[in-house]
Amino acid sequence: MSHELNFETGVVLVAGGSGGIGSDICRTFARAGIPVVFTYYSNETKAQTLCDEIRNEGGACDYRRVDLSSPQAVTSLFQQVREQFGPIRHAVYASGPHFDFNFIGQIPNQDWQQVVNTDVNGAFYFIQSAVDAFKTNTDGGNLIAVITAAVERVPVKDIMSAAPKAAIEMLVRGVAKESGRFGIRANCVGPGWINAGLGKQGLEEKLDEKTRDHIRKTTIPLQSFGEGEDIANAALFLCSRQAKYITGQSLAVDGGLQL
Ligand SMILES: NC(=O)c1ccc[n+]([C@@H]2O[C@H](COP(=O)([O-])OP(=O)(O)OC[C@H]3O[C@@H](n4cnc5c(N)ncnc54)[C@H](OP(=O)(O)O)[C@@H]3O)[C@@H](O)[C@H]2O)c1
Repeated sequence: MSHELNFETGVVLVAGGSGGIGSDICRTFARAGIPVVFTYYSNETKAQTLCDEIRNEGGACDYRRVDLSSPQAVTSLFQQVREQFGPIRHAVYASGPHFDFNFIGQIPNQDWQQVVNTDVNGAFYFIQSAVDAFKTNTDGGNLIAVITAAVERVPVKDIMSAAPKAAIEMLVRGVAKESGRFGIRANCVGPGWINAGLGKQGLEEKLDEKTRDHIRKTTIPLQSFGEGEDIANAALFLCSRQAKYITGQSLAVDGGLQL
């Protein structure tokens, strides 16, 4: 028996592929032989560089600019990808807005509205279109949402990450329950402190070495920060045939932070 992961045929569509975690997800799926189409929002240079890198390694890759907070844009993204690249077999939501860390009482209404509109509504449009696309396949599809390990911990000043991701987690569980009969599986991956994208920016710009060390040693049982690849590997496994009986779950990839 082979121990390699294997996959149903079809494209993976990654929302937020230009991000720190999203780009590792694109690389990892491409290395597993899965054709990748990813979205970016503002960082076209990063999108182009990532796409070139994947193609240079022999992978199949393309990208599109999409504002996920526009339902029409998301519907048309799925239509275009299906027409141009064939069946979408995996859809990974790895997007999320930037925001300031703040106590709940100090969050301006407009910041809250913007985060909910981009993250909760954006994920909803993406998930709805993914389910529609999977239903046109003969054998369903796999949905993954990158959420946060913080959904279990009520983090101080991080509610603008945790609350939208908690809503997304419930949406994913709803899809697992309602759409399992179409062969659709839906799972979440919950990053802890990851040295990529937003996490890297926070670790490097907002914390000094002493504080980083303190966090590592006192809050993370494995005593190290994670890599984007750790999240990508979990997402890849959940999309593989080897995970065919797993649905509606949230896998924390956080070195034990959540415990
Ligand atoms: N990194 C961590 O340690 C960590 C930990 C826990 C949870 N998370 C969560 O995991 C997700 C990915 O994190 P990350 O670190 O990879 O973040 P990131 O590097 O900031 O990437 C965010 C992605 O979302 C896209 N995006 C933002 N607003 C958008 C919009 N309106 N429409 C379409 N796309 C939009 C960005 O596109 P452009 O860059 O092209 O604008 C980018 O591709 C985030 O939701 C984050 O909260 C991350």
